[in-house]
Amino acid sequence: MRHRGVRAGLRRRDPWRIIIATTAAGGRNLHQGETTMTIEFRALSPSFATEVDGIDLSQPMTASDVKTLWNAIDRYAVLVFHDQRLSDIQLRDFAAAFGPLEIGRGALQGGKRRLALPQIGDISNLDEENRIRARDDRRRLDSLGNRLWHTDASYMPVPVVLGMLHAVAVPPASVLGGGETQFADMRAAYDALPETMKAEIDGLVVEHDIFWSRGQIGFTEFPPGEREKYPPSPQRLVRRHPGSQRKTLYLSAHASHVVGWPVAEGRLLLWDLTAHATQSQFIHSHRWQVGDLVIWDNRCTMHRGRPHDESQARDLRRATTLDTASTLEQAA
Ligand code: OGA
Ligand code: MN
Repeated sequence: MRHRGVRAGLRRRDPWRIIIATTAAGGRNLHQGETTMTIEFRALSPSFATEVDGIDLSQPMTASDVKTLWNAIDRYAVLVFHDQRLSDIQLRDFAAAFGPLEIGRGALQGGKRRLALPQIGDISNLDEENRIRARDDRRRLDSLGNRLWHTDASYMPVPVVLGMLHAVAVPPASVLGGGETQFADMRAAYDALPETMKAEIDGLVVEHDIFWSRGQIGFTEFPPGEREKYPPSPQRLVRRHPGSQRKTLYLSAHASHVVGWPVAEGRLLLWDLTAHATQSQFIHSHRWQVGDLVIWDNRCTMHRGRPHDESQARDLRRATTLDTASTLEQAA
């Protein structure tokens, strides 16, 4: 096992870019051949997101590894690993250490699928034969909804916790962009709100609806029966993040309106809050390399995909862990 050392160019340029290495007693001290591995963290921005080194995600983890990573998720919300080459089975097994896994809308739609495992979401521009999808392909247009700021599956009554994307193929840089994924820190965005606004929104409940989010980009071609399968779900607008006990905004492109308010008024409030929460100081942009794996906490971040050259393959695989209760049952 090759030691994954500090990557060149990411040394301590900024005071917050501290390396926190777990000690042998507190974290991983796994002997793989001759090498002792230590999990290291290197913050990517002052408020959230960290790179993680010194762990091979294809290998089974100890309980202490999982705890070390959960602590980092609770602190940083976004974890970036490099140089991992996981099969779908390895990705599923790694993700399952963090909770029961979602079977997403894509896998439930039926029909021929490119990927064998239902727990692995196909976040690619490829069809069942690994060909680039046509510009007007229905599944491609549906997945363009990921270009809007969102948190995953907030339209489900019990939404999801962790998202994990693993890069198998990455498009080259282009004039349109390189297909980056951006993350926004909803705890920092909440903290930065005026106290009067915090008081105004504290108890609000928002209706989240996949048909609203897709409708915003003009996508309405859902397969028959899907509308009935995914009715809107109410979610708290302000949540308390369990692992950090910090308050967080729970926003998403799926968020349609405020329950009990005129639709227009709630929608305008959600737009204002989203504009606030996606300012550059709250964003980390991830430029993909093959072998990257990124974990994010959907409870306290939003994310979106960025455009790329659509003639080039972009193949990311996603695993997602489920929550246990509605946000309405979780006091803010
Ligand atoms: C997702 C998602 C964005 C991207 O997989 O949940 O929103 O960059 N992906 O592909
Ligand atoms: Mn998403």
